Amino acid sequence: MDYPYEAKYPALQFAAIFNTNRCIGCHTCSMACKSTWTFSDGQEYMWWNNIETKPYGGYPQFWDMKILKLLDSAHVSQEKEMTWNTDKKDVKKAPYGQYDGMTIFEAVQHEKPEEGQSRVLGYLPQDHEWSKPNIHEDASPINTKEHDAMGFAKEGVKLPVHDSFFFYLQRICNHCQYPACLAACPRKAIYKRPEDGVVLIDQERCRGYRKCNEACPYKKPMYNGKTKASEKCIACYPRLEGKDNIISPEGVPVETRCMSACVGKIRLQGLVKLDSNGLWEKDSSNPLYALIHEEKIALPLYPQFGTEPNMYYIPPRWAPRNYLMQMFGPGVQQSIDNYTYPTRRTLAILQLFRAQREIIYKFETKEGPKIYEREVTLSDGTKKMLEVFDDTAIGYNKNGKECVRVTVQEPAFERSAKFLNSI
Ligand code: SF4
Ligand code: SF4
Ligand code: SF4
Ligand code: F3S
Repeated sequence: MDYPYEAKYPALQFAAIFNTNRCIGCHTCSMACKSTWTFSDGQEYMWWNNIETKPYGGYPQFWDMKILKLLDSAHVSQEKEMTWNTDKKDVKKAPYGQYDGMTIFEAVQHEKPEEGQSRVLGYLPQDHEWSKPNIHEDASPINTKEHDAMGFAKEGVKLPVHDSFFFYLQRICNHCQYPACLAACPRKAIYKRPEDGVVLIDQERCRGYRKCNEACPYKKPMYNGKTKASEKCIACYPRLEGKDNIISPEGVPVETRCMSACVGKIRLQGLVKLDSNGLWEKDSSNPLYALIHEEKIALPLYPQFGTEPNMYYIPPRWAPRNYLMQMFGPGVQQSIDNYTYPTRRTLAILQLFRAQREIIYKFETKEGPKIYEREVTLSDGTKKMLEVFDDTAIGYNKNGKECVRVTVQEPAFERSAKFLNSI
């Protein structure tokens, strides 16, 4: 991949997993970010965290379709293909494959040769594209199966794939390993912090050239017309640094605002160790490492762009696989199967999602009794008997102190008849 700067990797990397299967589209996360960071003049349109309904929603509108189209057209002009090598015999590649096409860093040379100064393939959204952050909310493609006048399928819908579907996609800056925004800025106003990999725009250096707005394929830097500089998600870095002493008197790192406010408990955020090549260091006791690299249930968004994003997604079980493959790469099928038929460890770690505010550096599980079983069907039609155990997941903070303990079976309390109707 052609990246204009020499590789340099942080010691720790800010990363997170979003479970799209559980998001209820409540936008509490977006409001948590807005009420903390973007409530001032010039920031009215900014949603550093946004939730969009796929397949039609997008903020800015159609951002992903637009960049995919540009990337595709660069491949067509060079008679190249955007393909994945998914040779199953190669254990290093399987199930993710290796992308054999051009990323946005190489494609720019072919797609925009007249604009010699562009380092990254991209486009600058127009003002109206930012004006409706929640456009097409809850809209799904038309049901092609036999349906009634209201569009409801006569036979109902069944897994593995719903004919008519939508899902919520949670989006913040990916604090990429190879940030396109950073590569494109002619002022060198963008930097990646060595301590946690957070990508920031230096407000003193920025002169509002907006090359970052054009280059970021995820469209996460946003221009402030008042200050004449661009701004973006700052990963709530005071919280990562343990400097929010109101919620963390001991000074341990806590999750960001959007993560810790998540009502659906779909988010898990952490700091992972990197090796000298910028790869995640093996650390089976880190819940993010375990879920992404060992249990293989979460995938990066549009990996073909080439920025190596650090936000990962558990793909929605019910959406058409081709659609998901273009979004998350060829590992989709396996990650959905691993989520449908999870290991005991996966089920336990899933309970840690948004279960506390302190960042979990280490976890362990304790085995409990069997509580449930049911048959599940994998994507190739294989039937499996899923046994669920009431295991316990325990998380430890930066100081090694226990900060959360949760069981697979959530405790339920039944109110007595006397208090049925009271709070
Ligand atoms: Fe930069 Fe965009 Fe990556 Fe964020 S998502 S680091 S703004 S390229
Ligand atoms: Fe906003 Fe912080 Fe979430 Fe970034 S990490 S989107 S700054 S709340
Ligand atoms: Fe989804 Fe959580 Fe945001 Fe609600 S707060 S929209 S559940 S990510
Ligand atoms: Fe650079 Fe973006 Fe500012 S390109 S100058 S950081 S608007």
